[in-house]
Amino acid sequence: MDIRGIARPEIVAMKPYVSARGSAAADGILLNANEAPQPLVDDPRWRRLALNRYPAPQPARLKARLAGLYGVAESNVLLTRGSDEGIDLLTRVFCRPGLDAVVECTPCFGMYRIAATIQGAQVIDIPRLAGDGLRIDYPALLRAIEGQAGEQAGQRAEVRLVFLTSPNNPTGDLIKRPQLERVLKACEGRALLVLDEAYIEFCCAESASSLLGQYPQLVVLRTLSKAWAAAAVRCGALLADAEVIGLLQRVMAPYPLAATAVDAALQATSGDVINRQQGLLEAVREGRQDLLEFLATCGWVREIWAGEANFVLLRLADAAALVNWCAGHGIHIRDFSSQPQLAGCVRLSIGSAAEMAALKASLRAYGERT
Ligand SMILES: Cc1ncc(COP(=O)(O)O)c(C=O)c1O
Repeated sequence: MDIRGIARPEIVAMKPYVSARGSAAADGILLNANEAPQPLVDDPRWRRLALNRYPAPQPARLKARLAGLYGVAESNVLLTRGSDEGIDLLTRVFCRPGLDAVVECTPCFGMYRIAATIQGAQVIDIPRLAGDGLRIDYPALLRAIEGQAGEQAGQRAEVRLVFLTSPNNPTGDLIKRPQLERVLKACEGRALLVLDEAYIEFCCAESASSLLGQYPQLVVLRTLSKAWAAAAVRCGALLADAEVIGLLQRVMAPYPLAATAVDAALQATSGDVINRQQGLLEAVREGRQDLLEFLATCGWVREIWAGEANFVLLRLADAAALVNWCAGHGIHIRDFSSQPQLAGCVRLSIGSAAEMAALKASLRAYGERT
């Protein structure tokens, strides 16, 4: 597939910026980046991380670590400041303002629409099926990719990015392999399929990254923010064809990853943490199961999306009342009730055993309040 043919022509044509650390070795006498020769802070960590210097644009150790974890070649990894940055870069490189479109299936993660709107790209929404547990409407999705949705709207926008999320936020459902491959085939020659796997570690499903060699139109987003317990580090990985990665690097800031963040990301994914991660994943599964059993006893709950991630979505008569009630007990849950198809819905994240006990006590009291 001709990846360059679907990217913004001005990005393909431009001569990329070449930074000092991106182009030359970082040892020897460094007089090529207008830095200070030593840190002023007298702290061994500052010296160890050389915080007076610009960091490597794509630090080799971290790239090798994440390529190994995700089972892909290093040439297929772009380290990012979280998946949010990956979404932003993709939209800026592949969507021409006023001409191109992204497709999403709401309810879904809100940043796809934000990035597209900032870029001036049209958002084609393929609403999930209300009468069918909010499952994806695949026939409508395929029609949109193949161009019919844009034509119906009277304005022909070229679909360049299709955002899918597995497990989805906030419904928690997975995209099965046959459906994924059907959408990938529809994207061939036209668009990239961006599969956001922010929560994949919480479920038993296999990542789609093994399909990268077969489908150059596939982009997979992974993050350390969820199952790696490192949201503040702001580190993610965009897995894609090397051609896609090369184009994204043209618009990426020259030094996107702070040396402190890279150091923290290496710690967050080290051997002993991998063992501890199993404990977190088990605790989340148990916490979710326990919460679901509790919610099943709550007569005021109208609908539940158990999902496969570290949260549960539920519907009740008055979402705002529950959100305010919990806030009164110092517990913050997410109100989704203003979003299309989610009237009365709130999302509960799975926290520690003590946090879940406090949540259940608050929910119990909510049920007993009248
Ligand atoms: C589906 C999904 N993708 C991406 C993100 C953002 O990830 P990151 O912290 O890596 O930017 C979130 C955050 O909640 C999310 O729910």
